[in-house]
Amino acid sequence: MISLDGRVAIVTGGSRGIGLATVESLAASGANVIIVSRSNNASFAALAKRLSEEFNVGIDTIFGDVGDPSTATSAVQFAFKKYKRLDVLVNNAGILDDALIGMISEESIDNTLNTNVKGVINFTQAAARLMERSGGGSIINVASIIGRYGNRGQVVYGASKAAVIGATLSSSKELAGKNIRVNAVAPGYIATDMIKNIDPAIDAIRRASIGMGRVGLPQDVANANLFLASDLSSYITGQTIGVDGAMLV
Ligand code: NAI
Repeated sequence: MISLDGRVAIVTGGSRGIGLATVESLAASGANVIIVSRSNNASFAALAKRLSEEFNVGIDTIFGDVGDPSTATSAVQFAFKKYKRLDVLVNNAGILDDALIGMISEESIDNTLNTNVKGVINFTQAAARLMERSGGGSIINVASIIGRYGNRGQVVYGASKAAVIGATLSSSKELAGKNIRVNAVAPGYIATDMIKNIDPAIDAIRRASIGMGRVGLPQDVANANLFLASDLSSYITGQTIGVDGAMLV
């Protein structure tokens, strides 16, 4: 049984998919969670209330774009004001916008890098200060199998996720002396909203490429995130863990 009793976590993009499964796993283990989301709606507030009651922990919401440094500042300031500490950051928010070379728009490049790369760096910078004051912490960056091995039509996404792995490696070296661990997970093909609009022919090819014969679930990734957030991984830093069921790309 993993216990995160009394710890404080920030999860970006935590209102659905892998982020939500991660929030639920952290909360079920006793952590108070601050969810960062772009959407400010009633269902999000209701979700936070439901999770807080179900797991008997603090669940709060911060609205904003992770690409804007002030969103990261707000989330970390909230953690400081309410809890005076921060133990875990899961940089999960990400977007996917596939296009073949020659069809890639400048807007797609800017949006993807803004969320997937700048968002990770914004939150790492803001979180590291409070984690240091808290005696250490664990940062988990959600990369992708595409950032390690590449794929047709995914030049921008692959570049952004390779950058996430690079940021993980560098920040793990810089922050190790402060007892802050930084690791990445590299999911394969996971059943979330992100893949629901993928062309059926491509979807079939991707599913057929998974050695374990099934698409991944958000919980599969959340389990790896929980391990990396917990003391079970206390001597692991600078690593990228594949969560892909032996997918081949
Ligand atoms: P999703 O689309 O269901 O969830 C993404 C979340 O990030 C949403 O809550 C969205 O609102 C939020 N978000 C996006 N841009 C944002 C921004 N600029 N500011 C704040 N929030 C923002 O997707 P999923 O699958 O749960 O993705 C989570 C992470 O996992 C992403 O980083 C994605 O790249 C990564 N991933 C997903 C895979 C999959 O097959 N679903 C495979 C490999 C990696």
